[in-house]
Amino acid sequence: MTADTLRQKYLSFFASKGHAVISGASLIPENDPTVLFTTAGMHPLVPYLLGEPHPAGKRLTDVQKCVRTGDIEAVGDAAHLTFFEMLGNWSLGDYFKKEAIAWSYEFLTSPQYLGFDPARLSVSVFQGEGNVPRDEESIAIWKSLGIPAERIHALPKEDNWWGPAGQTGPCGPDTEMFIDTLKPACGPACRPGCHCGKYIEIWNDVFMQYNKTADGRYEPLKQANVDTGMGVERTICMLQGRASVFETELFAPLMARIAELSTTPPADVATVQRAQRIIADHLRTATFILGDQRGGVKPGNLGANYVLRRLIRRAVRYAKLLGIGPGFARALAEIVVANYRHVYPELQEKSETIFNELAIEEERFEKTLVSGQKEFDKISTALKTHGQTQLSGRTAFKLYDTYGFPLEMTEELASEQGLTVDRAGFDEAFKKHQELSKQGDKNFKGGLADHGDATTRLHTATHLLHKALQIVLGPHAQQKGSNITPERLRFDFTHGEKMTPEQLAEVERIVNEQIGRNLTITLETMTIEEARAQGATALFAAKYGEQVKVYTAGDFSKEVCGGPHTKTTGELGKFKIQKEESSSAGVRRIRAVLE
Ligand code: SER
Repeated sequence: MTADTLRQKYLSFFASKGHAVISGASLIPENDPTVLFTTAGMHPLVPYLLGEPHPAGKRLTDVQKCVRTGDIEAVGDAAHLTFFEMLGNWSLGDYFKKEAIAWSYEFLTSPQYLGFDPARLSVSVFQGEGNVPRDEESIAIWKSLGIPAERIHALPKEDNWWGPAGQTGPCGPDTEMFIDTLKPACGPACRPGCHCGKYIEIWNDVFMQYNKTADGRYEPLKQANVDTGMGVERTICMLQGRASVFETELFAPLMARIAELSTTPPADVATVQRAQRIIADHLRTATFILGDQRGGVKPGNLGANYVLRRLIRRAVRYAKLLGIGPGFARALAEIVVANYRHVYPELQEKSETIFNELAIEEERFEKTLVSGQKEFDKISTALKTHGQTQLSGRTAFKLYDTYGFPLEMTEELASEQGLTVDRAGFDEAFKKHQELSKQGDKNFKGGLADHGDATTRLHTATHLLHKALQIVLGPHAQQKGSNITPERLRFDFTHGEKMTPEQLAEVERIVNEQIGRNLTITLETMTIEEARAQGATALFAAKYGEQVKVYTAGDFSKEVCGGPHTKTTGELGKFKIQKEESSSAGVRRIRAVLE
């Protein structure tokens, strides 16, 4: 079974159980400063898990692109990836454990769908902690379906609890499904969740009943939801009986090309295999980030941009190890685009951006990599001669600042030499440098709690800005990207030249005028075709006939949008543009605040 067949079977199975098929969202979250990327299918659905009605109903199913870099060190084994596709089915306060588990079982084992041998299936459930009891209900349901007690494992929170996706939000106990690869167990304690690779987790049913608050409490949600996630790459790997996800059709052409390009691979086969897998994984992820429909993330030094830079640079470093020559990043991205464009047409649409950005970043890094490596070798030799085991934060910062070595890469190089890096010292040097260069942008890694109100107001301001730009510059001034933190909005749009001070003043005046009129913001649900017919701006592709939400600000603006928004424009305060600059060729960027 191919990935194409799996996606289609999954969606049609859940459609047959009354689920509406909805489009997956962008990899770049629009209005959530608590995460840098969409990390799970639940992430774009958070408002609905919290109780807001979804326009398509209470039962949904989709395929969601996800990026997770938390396990980046594990990439290179058979199953870990930084980008993956997640199939999901959702109950928004509708069905719960009984149906969710029974359908998972049916889809996995029915010959009409995946046809896994039930004997290869093991499951885990939550063992209970604090005020949340052991999940006896799920245990009983699995038993009733024929899974024997010895293949049902009750495990602690670190295994069987999911969420929230950011710092706060919906979460709950889960039950996970594993396929036994039939490899020998690594020891008597080997069980699902063990990292030896005998059991591969392919699906997770989360029972989202709690909301984690900013002060760390778990409060019951208004409604009990189901959030499930099945990994496409891992599942087809198991269905095809492959030894790793890299041997499925999703990676095979990429791996073949990497092997061809590897001119001087080291003798150790395991090292070569790991390096080739890392290159394939990282460049596939970089391609999807650069080719995202929302756009706007380029290699850089902060937040999501930094994650992207780190992926590309790590790939370059491993390419060097294998003797892969310059220009490989673009060459590999071409294969990724060709392999996926029938499923993700945005990759084709953005292919020029993808190829150019990769080529530029590869070249940029090439220029300093060799001298940086020399510098590193010199320092590590000196440290070792003096019996020292730690690289100072200042040195790590110099490697970062002068040679473009991501901190994590320095840490990796250091650990290969038996050295550690003073992370706190690096952070200090980084902060000092930031203060000195008076960087306006903030690295919002985490620790941000409920800044909901501030971001909602800025989001509404973004709609007014979009419309005002079209009035002042013309209808070509269309949104290319948007990024909101609690402090400011950032908006990218198509426009060929620098805006004049008069144009900026006029845009600001129009937005403030609409705020002054205190327009009411209304929300309606309709099909995407109706929305377009009413003249709503619809930026992202939706399936034919898909129900969407349309936000209207008085007689001023109308956009297809997931929300949330304020009730009136009067709540926004004073709108002020701080900066207008180039974002990329033909695209301008505005940074603005509400005072
Ligand atoms: N949110 C859960 C996960 O990512 C299930 O979709 O595993």
